[in-house]
Amino acid sequence: MKKNSSIHVCLFPAAGYGTRFLPATKAMPKEMLPILTKPLIQYGVEEAMDAGMNTMAIVTGRGKRAIEDHFDVSYELEHQIKGTTKEKMLADIRHIIDKCTFAYTRQVEMKGLGHAILTGEPLVGNQPFAVILADDLCVNDSEGVLTQMVTLYNKYQCSIVAIEEINSKYTDKYGIIAGEEIENGIYRVNTMVEKPSPADAPSNLAIIGRYILTPDIFEILKNTKPGKSGEIQITDALMEQAKSGNVIAYKFQGKRYDCGSIDGYVQATVELYEKEKK
Ligand code: UTP
Repeated sequence: MKKNSSIHVCLFPAAGYGTRFLPATKAMPKEMLPILTKPLIQYGVEEAMDAGMNTMAIVTGRGKRAIEDHFDVSYELEHQIKGTTKEKMLADIRHIIDKCTFAYTRQVEMKGLGHAILTGEPLVGNQPFAVILADDLCVNDSEGVLTQMVTLYNKYQCSIVAIEEINSKYTDKYGIIAGEEIENGIYRVNTMVEKPSPADAPSNLAIIGRYILTPDIFEILKNTKPGKSGEIQITDALMEQAKSGNVIAYKFQGKRYDCGSIDGYVQATVELYEKEKK
């Protein structure tokens, strides 16, 4: 873990129902679906640790207890495999448990991503924080996406969203930004729209599941009315910050898999398997 990081807390909104994976997600959180031997949320926690964060704040909901159990010791299991070749399979998760603090709160009603982030306020307090949507799995051979974003935060000291260029046909699945390119791949955002139709989209630059947010976002979220599909949208709250020039969008280095969809999940599994075999 890096020392002296400017951001200590990473928030994981993980209360969604994961309906695209039913019936697998009927009694199991989507965030616990494995890519090879690791659940999605563990990849996210490792990315946050690599970026210097040591407090993982997780917004859960009903049926998500497996997440808490995963980030806790399992004495019986550890005793059982002690001294066998399998012991090393728990080494990574043991390291995470030793180095990080986990804090949980529940979102009682699923009123959208913005509402889930607001629900995390008591765990975050008055400091800048990162957000990871664990179903967006990001991989990069050198620095992780959140590490890249912390470097950018240190320079700009404002909210940062990670973006990627998408096929314009799919703008209605993402928050879409437009802005002025101030450095190669870095934009000062002046427009943000949640899930616009291709005809209404201001660009094909889509927000993915990585954010750094300044804490004034909480007050803005409290005053944000339900938007698209009756949910409180983080995109609408960020647009308020963007009006005063306080949102940067960053074309990250690396690859994102949308593991909230079957296609992305299978692609991630195959590609990470191929990589591990090499
Ligand atoms: P998604 O749009 O992927 O929704 O949420 P979902 O419910 O998880 O999955 P599907 O579409 O039914 O298959 C994006 C992220 O926001 C969180 C989800 O857990 C996911 O990480 N979220 C969304 C919440 O925590 N609370 C909400 O009310 C909505």
